[in-house]
Amino acid sequence: MDIELLQAQVGLWNLTYGYLKTMSLKCALDLGIPDAIFNNGQPMTLSQLHSVLSLPPSKKSHLYRLMRLLAHIGFFIEKNASACSEPVYDLTAQSRLVIEKNDSANMFPFVRCALHDIWLRSSLFMGDWFMRDSEQNPFELANGSTVWEIVSQEPVVNKMFNDAMVSSSCMFNDYIVKYGDEIFKGIESLVDVGGGKGAMAEVIAKNFPHVRCTVLDLPHVVCDNPNDGIVNFVPGDMFNYVPPADAVLLKWVLHDWSNEDCIRILRRCKDAIPSREAGGKVIVLEVVVGSTSAMISEEPQLLLDILMLTVAEGEERDENGWKYLFTEAGFSSYKITYAIGFLSIIEVYP
Ligand SMILES: C[S@@+](CC[C@H](N)C(=O)[O-])C[C@H]1O[C@@H](n2cnc3c(N)ncnc32)[C@H](O)[C@@H]1O
Repeated sequence: MDIELLQAQVGLWNLTYGYLKTMSLKCALDLGIPDAIFNNGQPMTLSQLHSVLSLPPSKKSHLYRLMRLLAHIGFFIEKNASACSEPVYDLTAQSRLVIEKNDSANMFPFVRCALHDIWLRSSLFMGDWFMRDSEQNPFELANGSTVWEIVSQEPVVNKMFNDAMVSSSCMFNDYIVKYGDEIFKGIESLVDVGGGKGAMAEVIAKNFPHVRCTVLDLPHVVCDNPNDGIVNFVPGDMFNYVPPADAVLLKWVLHDWSNEDCIRILRRCKDAIPSREAGGKVIVLEVVVGSTSAMISEEPQLLLDILMLTVAEGEERDENGWKYLFTEAGFSSYKITYAIGFLSIIEVYP
């Protein structure tokens, strides 16, 4: 058979069933497999894993099949698999990221939220949405409400979403600390707009004590936040008012919104900061499509863009897209400085 045709068939096969990788990951997290191996303190045999997870005896061979796929795609390591010995499983750098006890880089709440039904369901409505001239995005078609309506009305989803955002911040923490001396030089106050539970603001406040940090977010997000003196929480709507500060931080906020809405938000931010000469700036932490650090693929940026298409009005923007927004909102210049994996820090000047 023609080798090119064979490769095309295999490629199509993998693409068609690729979602089963995601579902197998979800299953591993539902069962608590990464934590079970971590808690064991050393690699586990299939029998040990099966026993610790308290699965029915009838599921042992099925567990083997799940682990075989997850090891094949690099989420676990499978050792000693031979005809006469039991397979032994260990964690990889990827599975270590979802260990619940891993305080420094625990992505478990983020991945658990990302794989919740409300998002998965939305993706099934993409084709439908393309064919309709509808105001509703695929998330609304699938769930009957917008993301922001659901998180404000359902406390369980609100908590899951906010916890996910806190855990996603751990991806940035080291970089903010590493580059912060330059970014926060001369900045005495900062408002993290749409700053959620304040995880990023807390890292900034603790590492750069000369910066007084405030978080502005919707009332249902900040209502139960402790005002512990490290970060000041202000309930409000960023479309109406942003409290004054030397700098405004927007992390993973603008990608949720259309160009028109982003321009409105950016204008509010510009009203809140002093002139460039007086040190005013907006710091945007987002994807710049096409800009990644070495060895990092563009694919996560394109996947995030399709996520935005299905769940919100927003998009992941390339440099021209960002430039358009900053210019329309009245800013004079910007600097895309550091690529953090597939994300960048953009400093925007009035
Ligand atoms: C994708 S989350 C990012 C949260 C946080 N910046 C982070 O990266 O961890 C977007 C945030 O924007 C907030 N948000 C949405 N609409 C808002 C509004 N009108 N005013 C203020 N915050 C808003 C949400 O509540 C949510 O916390």
